[in-house]
Amino acid sequence: MKYSRAIAPAKVILFGEHFVVNGSRAIATALDLFTSVTAAEKASWPLELESASLGLKCVTGPELACSSRELEPLLSTIRALRSRGYDVPPARLTIESDIPPSAGLGSSASVSAATAAALTALAGQDIGPEELFEVTMEGERVAHGNPSGVDAATVVYGGTIVFRRGVGVLDSLDSRVGPIVVAYSGVRRSTGAAVLSVIKSLNAVRELRDLMIGLVERLIDAAWEALRDGSLETLGNLMNINHGLLSAIGVSTPELEELLYAARRAGALGAKLTGAGWGGSVIAVARPDAMKGVVEALSSRSSWVRVLEGEARGARAIETNP
Ligand code: MEV
Repeated sequence: MKYSRAIAPAKVILFGEHFVVNGSRAIATALDLFTSVTAAEKASWPLELESASLGLKCVTGPELACSSRELEPLLSTIRALRSRGYDVPPARLTIESDIPPSAGLGSSASVSAATAAALTALAGQDIGPEELFEVTMEGERVAHGNPSGVDAATVVYGGTIVFRRGVGVLDSLDSRVGPIVVAYSGVRRSTGAAVLSVIKSLNAVRELRDLMIGLVERLIDAAWEALRDGSLETLGNLMNINHGLLSAIGVSTPELEELLYAARRAGALGAKLTGAGWGGSVIAVARPDAMKGVVEALSSRSSWVRVLEGEARGARAIETNP
């Protein structure tokens, strides 16, 4: 029986979330934390889909419909594959993810991209990054309503990227970023609802909105320079400023602030929320000698803290048999 396995990384937005939906660039990086999808060919329908880590299960015929709403983004990605001419053979799909869902770490995009890569590998068809991005975006539209595409681009292309909505990846970094401390607040959040609320509050005063977008664009220039130079201190400082802007547009929460201040008090050079906010995760950077203290401070307030390195490669099939 034919079999394939594909992986896709998690992502964090380093700078520019929300503002990227509204016209600025953003900087994001893939991380060495993965979704893995195995696709085992079946002789006949139905297609079976199971994820123990995400608590999801579905059995469906060629119409690709499941009762679980949580699976709808993934099914949209699979339907998008088919409408682009890729074969979707009956298969047993097993999804294992180390990425907590609804935590701002790109879980939905990572699951969609890894599934599309596994299914196309199973069918013996090549899918390039442009089309992998497009089918992942179909899932993201269902998951979030109005995605900029930065999550999908980061998990598909990997590495550290500068992204602009409607244009794509503008620049990427050769070296890997890291280490980055990531702490999940334990509060699941809806990206779509946070995005809508920010659009509404930014649009209330157009002039202010344009000034803030301009400010973020300057921040992105300075941050990209700091990333290229490996200037951790500047990076941390800019992360703190970016977080201030995210607080200003109303997406921080007391839980996130508590994590951020704990990290900063323990010696982090900078810390900010990452992703949509209203819950989800924070990221922090620290010098090697302060790292242990930062992780301890966060671990006393969060049950999910990781020190992660950047991941240079995006979603890809890693095993196909035969
Ligand atoms: C979500 O990871 C990032 C947001 O900027 C939404 C988007 O870019 O689609 C909040």
